[in-house]
Amino acid sequence: MYNALMGTAATTAVGAGLTLYYLEKNSAHANMEAEGLHPADYPFPQKKLFGTFDHASIRRGFQVFKEVCSACHSLDLVHWRNLVDVAYTEDEVREMAEEFEYTDGPDDKGEMFERPGKLTDPIPRPYANEEAARAANAGALPPDLSLITKARHGGVDYIYALLTGYCDPPAGVEVREGLNYNPYFPGGAIAMAQNIFDGVVEYEDGTPNTASQIAKDVVTFLNWAAEPELDDRKKIGAKALLLFSSLTLMALWIKRNRWHTLKSRKIAFNSPKNWNKKPNPPSKN
Ligand code: HEC
Repeated sequence: MYNALMGTAATTAVGAGLTLYYLEKNSAHANMEAEGLHPADYPFPQKKLFGTFDHASIRRGFQVFKEVCSACHSLDLVHWRNLVDVAYTEDEVREMAEEFEYTDGPDDKGEMFERPGKLTDPIPRPYANEEAARAANAGALPPDLSLITKARHGGVDYIYALLTGYCDPPAGVEVREGLNYNPYFPGGAIAMAQNIFDGVVEYEDGTPNTASQIAKDVVTFLNWAAEPELDDRKKIGAKALLLFSSLTLMALWIKRNRWHTLKSRKIAFNSPKNWNKKPNPPSKN
């Protein structure tokens, strides 16, 4: 009786556990609000196995960053010289850097002085410090964008979806004053307002300046900023695959070559002539 009771209890416990596990795995998650809507998988060329950056897009993306995002976001890990031969010529970058004033010094009188930017300077920050950045953005801190595509779940897809995903909040959702509704942002309410619209920048190469094109270009630029080694990494990866696969084939061939004498050896047993004869009985002495 006791055994039967215990058996029933154990079976019930295991059954309940399995049922809960099944429900957990199969229920539709209604946590979009907390985690943010999952972005679509966009066909950025650099995401493919051997795909590399579209450098014309990096160039347009830097223009978008400079004209739009740099009003609020810093890009501390990128220096002017990093852009040379990636998206601009050296002269073009020098010209852009010289448009900004940098504090340098001290000079021989101990004074700090202003001078035009050089290739070795970082991209200038919009605010002197975090407090100033928060004060200008209703308490929210615009994060540094140098590594943002690596710092967010979903990477480039998330940033693209975020920039193009602003819409009216659904019925019943209240967004606090100063925040904006964006279903891709965890929590749904983001302090950054929509700032990419059709025609917000004019491209010099004649690319249509639609909102989706502008967002794609700035995301490509930010991806390059976070992973400037991507092109080289894939080139070296392709070479390594080629090299190591041929080395593997050679190793296999050499192994067969070395082993063939052993593998093709035939061991034959020739029975002695008196095979069936009984041995002589031991001698008496
Ligand atoms: C007017 C100021 C302003 C401008 C211009 C601006 N941002 Fe922001 N951005 C913010 C603020 C403030 C936040 C912080 C939002 C928050 O935490 O709610 C933010 C957050 C972000 C985030 C992080 C979102 C997250 O998941 O945490 C990204 C990515 C971003 N901005 C990209 C951009 C890009 C790209 C541009 C240019 C196209 C841009 N921003 C232009 C103010 C701005």
